[in-house]
Amino acid sequence: MSSKSLFPVLALGAVLALLVAGLYVLAFTPRAPAPENSPGDEQAAVPIGGPFTLTDHLGRRVSDSDFRGRFMLIYFGYSFCPDVCPLELARIGRALRLATERGMDPGAVAPLFITVDPERDTVEQLAGHVPLFHPDLVGLTGSPEEIAAVTSAYHIFARKGAASADRPDDYLVDHTSMILLMDKAGEFVAVFTGRESVEDIAARLLAETGAAR
Ligand code: NI
Repeated sequence: MSSKSLFPVLALGAVLALLVAGLYVLAFTPRAPAPENSPGDEQAAVPIGGPFTLTDHLGRRVSDSDFRGRFMLIYFGYSFCPDVCPLELARIGRALRLATERGMDPGAVAPLFITVDPERDTVEQLAGHVPLFHPDLVGLTGSPEEIAAVTSAYHIFARKGAASADRPDDYLVDHTSMILLMDKAGEFVAVFTGRESVEDIAARLLAETGAAR
């Protein structure tokens, strides 16, 4: 076969391969959550959320049911995070302040910071960390099993990175970064990734809590 007559065959082959790859991606792409949407409000194919019992930054045992009647604005991360977590917690603090300034009942939303690094994020560590961002921010830690259960229920990926041999306490944790809004019944409402502005988040909080004017 000359290269001239081979070309259409190769082109057709390439098109077919792309088509098959596309179908494969469509079939196996997880539906939930949908971080591309902003602000996201896709209903998850697999429910996001669920019951948890953890320990707060004041050492009290706290369950999701303690927040019924309030919205929960949840962020999963860790206090030693060098970059994304402090920025996202700061955004949560600013969004809450802005929404409150615009008429939201300050008690309408419970901001929760759930650690993905329970080894280092002790009660004492969180007690020194969460007040930096908002006075209402609740830091939550627990046993590795409790944290594994809650991260799984909220579709959060977290994996501890390698530590150097001489400093076993010095490591990063790779983790999903998204702010989850759950309603008064603990049901998933929305996910905010890094794309939404503080204004967007505040506006959504005002709308969902019924305080929007
Ligand atoms: Ni982080």
